[in-house]
Amino acid sequence: VVLHVIVLRGSASVQIATANYSRDDFPPAPHFVFGAGTSAYQVEGAAFEDGRTPSIWDTFAHSGRFGDNNNGDIACDMYHKYKEDVQLMVDTGLEAFRFSISWSRVIPNGRGPVNPKGVQYYNSLINELIRHGIQPHVTLFHYDVPQELEDEYGGWLGRKIVKDFTAFADVCFREFGDRVSYWSTMNEANVFVMGGYDLGIFPPGRCSAPFGSNCTGGSSATEPYIATHNILLAHASTARLYKEKYQAKQHGLIGLDILTYGLVPLTNSTEDVKAAERVHDFFHGWFLNPLVFGDYPESMKKIAGSRLPSFTPHQSKLLKGSCDFFGLNHYRTMYIKDDPDSLKTNQRDYLGDMAAKMLSKQGHVPSGQFPIDPAGLQIVLEHLKEVYSNPPVFIYENGQMTYHNTSLDASLNDTSRVEYMEAFMGGLLEAMKNGSNAKGYFVWSFMDLFELFDGLKSTFGLYYVDFNDPDLNRYAKFSAHWYSSFLRGRTINQ
Ligand code: NOJ
Repeated sequence: VVLHVIVLRGSASVQIATANYSRDDFPPAPHFVFGAGTSAYQVEGAAFEDGRTPSIWDTFAHSGRFGDNNNGDIACDMYHKYKEDVQLMVDTGLEAFRFSISWSRVIPNGRGPVNPKGVQYYNSLINELIRHGIQPHVTLFHYDVPQELEDEYGGWLGRKIVKDFTAFADVCFREFGDRVSYWSTMNEANVFVMGGYDLGIFPPGRCSAPFGSNCTGGSSATEPYIATHNILLAHASTARLYKEKYQAKQHGLIGLDILTYGLVPLTNSTEDVKAAERVHDFFHGWFLNPLVFGDYPESMKKIAGSRLPSFTPHQSKLLKGSCDFFGLNHYRTMYIKDDPDSLKTNQRDYLGDMAAKMLSKQGHVPSGQFPIDPAGLQIVLEHLKEVYSNPPVFIYENGQMTYHNTSLDASLNDTSRVEYMEAFMGGLLEAMKNGSNAKGYFVWSFMDLFELFDGLKSTFGLYYVDFNDPDLNRYAKFSAHWYSSFLRGRTINQ
């Protein structure tokens, strides 16, 4: 056990016992990379600048959901401060950086003419990363459908989006693909459809019954399934385009990202074990099965019946094997209890179809923080190895949430984030020793940003951003120092 002693700005030194692994225990870059991530709406700001038009996130945040002036109009202003931010990445020793491209910045109307200033921004960011030896990992869709396409045909509910998304991706591959080797078509696709079409907590804010009261628009219990179907078809069409037109020249890889939970039956009863399998099918298998095997899980077909669209043989063939890798976002373990009652309601919703309750771990966890339960990550990776032929995976998100603290020193002293990262990185290493094909680990998030659940109130960053300061200054938290020491194989002894 090595003690890291780190002196924080204006505070006493903090000691933390590090786990008994180091950077050298993982394969070296570029075979395995450590990075951190952000997404366009959450950090860029410059929402009305240089030709960008609103996405559904602008509309949603401006509806007052998070309170007045709590939106991504300015966010971290990374659009203007990207050079400074890349310098912080260099200082931290990041080997890779994950970010997303704002569709309505690059193609303001969602389709049609390309915005040269939008292209220029991403070119500058990518060049800055490459110049410093930081590998770019690009997400094409991080929840921000151009509002114009949402208005015209209902965004992901309209089949036309398959063509428009593929055309947007084509522009990105053409403009940036000579320097970008890792493309993820969608971020947390399963959470987007659940939040946007079942619970109504994300844009476009639609709900399945019986959640209707809280929504901007009504949704039949079929909408999450339709949106997912179109997302999968758009992914398949984009992956085919990349593989046929670009891959031989650009040598990159294309994948898709989902949120995964470690799923554990609450008891050993057959009911709970079966419920955990159903939750896996409805939450992970909904995407993994079509992408690996070409079709939805059997349990989904049986339960959702005609509400679940089906693939033609041609579509199924396009989907199968279309991911060169999977992005996995992972934060926590869920304990699953059978709940047959939720199947009985007349108007079922997507979550009800699982007929199960997802419970988090009991015990004392400080408010707003996730329990530290790294075995869940091993469960997920083990499952991918056994059931889905062990595809290459990047852990694209993992990190601890804390609330913004009024005192800067308290915000910087984020020992709970370090404990969390340290535990999960250790869990990841164990899974890799057992044969998992993991290729990288990315902390969410590089800096504090506009959080999707509550705007600027909760934080995940390695760097604190002072949102009250017009300059939006960044300050390294303890976690940034800790990550940096780990990445540089440096021990700061007493
Ligand atoms: C999921 C999303 O990809 C990201 O945008 C969000 O900020 C984090 N997880 C934390 O909620």
